[in-house]
Amino acid sequence: MNITSDKKIGPRDRFKRPISDLRISLLDQCNFRCTYCMPEKKFHQNFKFLTKQERLTHDEILRLINIAVDLGVTKIRLTGGEPLLDKNIVSLVNKISKIDGITDLALTTNGTLLRKYADDLKKAGLHRITVSLDSLDPDIFYKLNGNKGNLRDVLDGILAAEESGFKEIKINTVVQRNVNENSIIDLLSHFRGTGHVVRLIEFMDVGNKNNWNLASVISAKELIERISQYWKLIPRKESYVGEVAKRYSYADGMGEIGFITSVSNPFCGDCSRARIAANGMLYTCLFATVGTDLRKLIREGADNQEIQNVFSRTWLERSDRYSELRGLNKNKIQEQKIEMYRMGG
Ligand code: GTP
Ligand code: 5AD
Ligand code: SF4
Ligand code: SF4
Repeated sequence: MNITSDKKIGPRDRFKRPISDLRISLLDQCNFRCTYCMPEKKFHQNFKFLTKQERLTHDEILRLINIAVDLGVTKIRLTGGEPLLDKNIVSLVNKISKIDGITDLALTTNGTLLRKYADDLKKAGLHRITVSLDSLDPDIFYKLNGNKGNLRDVLDGILAAEESGFKEIKINTVVQRNVNENSIIDLLSHFRGTGHVVRLIEFMDVGNKNNWNLASVISAKELIERISQYWKLIPRKESYVGEVAKRYSYADGMGEIGFITSVSNPFCGDCSRARIAANGMLYTCLFATVGTDLRKLIREGADNQEIQNVFSRTWLERSDRYSELRGLNKNKIQEQKIEMYRMGG
């Protein structure tokens, strides 16, 4: 690395933030059509997802991870689309888990295929699983995911992950006013005492296609007030610098929940997350409009040093803080934001 100071420290962006977390979208396809992510009207049968040729191969992904580790990345999250639609996911996880310097290897899934893969993923060295699940009310569940999948499969997938030895599974729940707000208490009740951690996510204005509006967002403050009518909550310390979720414990010892407050209380200050989309574009913010084409570099024959220089320079030049600017009404984004199903969550 010849761009910055010290290999161990790695590049710092314009706000002195290091890069420690790399999220990789394996493919942009999904077997769900969540209304806040890939609404079916827009992502219909004829929608053109990336072809296999356009997607990074596993070897290309592994190469980029090795380069990122040299820049300071220690944490990898595999996402999508739905990453378990990648039939060779187990072998990829196996190879990533053997890379020196990776201390945390996690996967975000909608859970439908977890029963099939949980055991093999555990054996392949996956550390942690996050399952997206917005409601246990079947009607709301189906409505939210575009009438796809099966709630029983998701719950069974979580059970399978438990049986395979995954602990503290995270359950990601996007909360929307007048949509699933009234089923949140049931969902919390279901997971209380299981050791799993529900994280309630404020509905975000990612992409351009999900009809986001501020009125649909329920702030963590309001949620905490509502939940406190059922169970007393006690704030906890963050478990690492830049943690996305604000953590709380149930005072009665029945576990932990988290709140992801991208809208009401942004957390850009410590943001050390980079994202690589399935087509090899590197993005430095979830709300990015432009990225850096690493696939082109790779396929034009660049060597590791050249790729690392571009990666590093992209990070050094980074000044993203979209959610903070949103809060200050200072977002001037004119261009189309990259969709989350493509970039990864
Ligand atoms: P842990 O490693 O378990 O702490 O999880 P995480 O918070 O890194 O990962 P997860 O992917 O589960 O994040 C949960 C949700 O938070 C995502 O699906 C997004 O909705 C949101 N989120 C994650 N990272 C960011 C980010 O950098 N910016 C914003 N605005 N939202 C984010
Ligand atoms: N707002 C908040 N969270 C979202 N996710 C997808 N779209 C949105 C949005 N508009 C979350 C999903 C999943 C993760 C990949 O991203 O719930 O947990
Ligand atoms: Fe698929 Fe996840 Fe998007 Fe839902 S939020 S459509 S499960 S990628
Ligand atoms: Fe990081 Fe962008 Fe999210 Fe802020 S909005 S926390 S800079 S990804």
